[in-house]
Amino acid sequence: MTQTLAPGSTIGIIGGGQLGRMSAVAAAQLGYRVHILSAASPAPAADTAASVTVGAYDDPHILEAFARDCDVITFEFENISADGLKKLAEFCPVYPAGSILEISQDRVAEKTALERMGLAVAPWTTLHSADDFPTLQSFGFPLILKTTRFGYDGKGQFRIPHEEAFQQLSQRAQDLPYPLIVERQIDFARELSVMVARTPQGAVRAFDPSENRHRDGILRVSMVPAPIMPGLAEKAQQMAIHLAKKIGLIGILGVEFFQDHHGDLLINEIAPRPHNSGHWTMDACVIDQFEMHIRAVAGLPLPEPRRHSDAFMHNLIGPDDIALLPELFAEENCAIHLYGKAEARPGRKMGHVNRLFPRGGLPGEQALANFRPT
Ligand SMILES: Nc1ncnc2c1ncn2[C@@H]1O[C@H](COP(=O)(O)OP(=O)(O)O)[C@@H](O)[C@H]1O
Ligand SMILES: [Mg+2]
Repeated sequence: MTQTLAPGSTIGIIGGGQLGRMSAVAAAQLGYRVHILSAASPAPAADTAASVTVGAYDDPHILEAFARDCDVITFEFENISADGLKKLAEFCPVYPAGSILEISQDRVAEKTALERMGLAVAPWTTLHSADDFPTLQSFGFPLILKTTRFGYDGKGQFRIPHEEAFQQLSQRAQDLPYPLIVERQIDFARELSVMVARTPQGAVRAFDPSENRHRDGILRVSMVPAPIMPGLAEKAQQMAIHLAKKIGLIGILGVEFFQDHHGDLLINEIAPRPHNSGHWTMDACVIDQFEMHIRAVAGLPLPEPRRHSDAFMHNLIGPDDIALLPELFAEENCAIHLYGKAEARPGRKMGHVNRLFPRGGLPGEQALANFRPT
């Protein structure tokens, strides 16, 4: 599809989570219908879509019926099978392409592809079985083991900070979920991310990088501008743009970086969909990541994602953060986004808030500690 998607057309979104919910709002604003395919119900995205199919992502009949109703398909959820994507692509364009999803789904394929594109990653190797476990000793510590597939929010990760931990874990090496990827644990100065979008016509845009802080493996805060040395923001954006072109991206993609103490950038991982670390764009930019995503898959022009404000994005996670809502609603310059999830289980992303400041007015580290949730 190199034509622009006509108003009133249907965009299919695979996945029923909050990223689908917010993508569907952006699509509706641009005059499109959204059809959500969700394996689970109730689904946050169902509330904001024109139609919803609840069904398995690997059921060929469900996939065919879904695809026949759509003019273009995209996703907010990465764990749909290669076969499922091929089935959909028989009936309808799927953006980003299945080949990109196959790279982002598998940490080995991802690292290999990034290195081929000339992009730096943390030193890594793979463990195919418990027989390989002793080879870790020569790799050096600290290390992180990660499942090659299906990891998110730090799930499926095992840290080996030192030799002693290695010895302990080797007692139960048989029980680990192989294959595993092993990464040197990077002593990073900060984590950054860039959202990059590209159209079928080849137009490409990158948002400003955010600095991202995690807690218990889950994103806690993003701040923009990231407090980085001059030129580094442009460098991160250039890497993201290079990646988007090389990989043939159509749609939006998040690039997660580690910045080391010398100011060098390594790529941690990529996600070919809207990303939690891009939520600040909803209130601090003239166009947000969701509209950029929809425009990209619809073949519409991509405006420069000019940032008019500085921002802190705080995720609202679990019941403790939801209990803060009355005071958050009373706060000035605080945009609240809730995902419509009924039950606030611990660790569950319930929503986020964007605190806005005039450009150049982002309060420092000290002030950040005073914002709730902390
Ligand atoms: N090699 C590494 N060195 C240092 N920290 C890491 C490394 N890999 C992951 N982390 C930390 O764990 C977080 C989650 O890991 P990530 O690979 O991004 O998995 P997920 O898919 O769960 O987001 C990262 O944002 C970072 O804070
Ligand atoms: Mg990550």
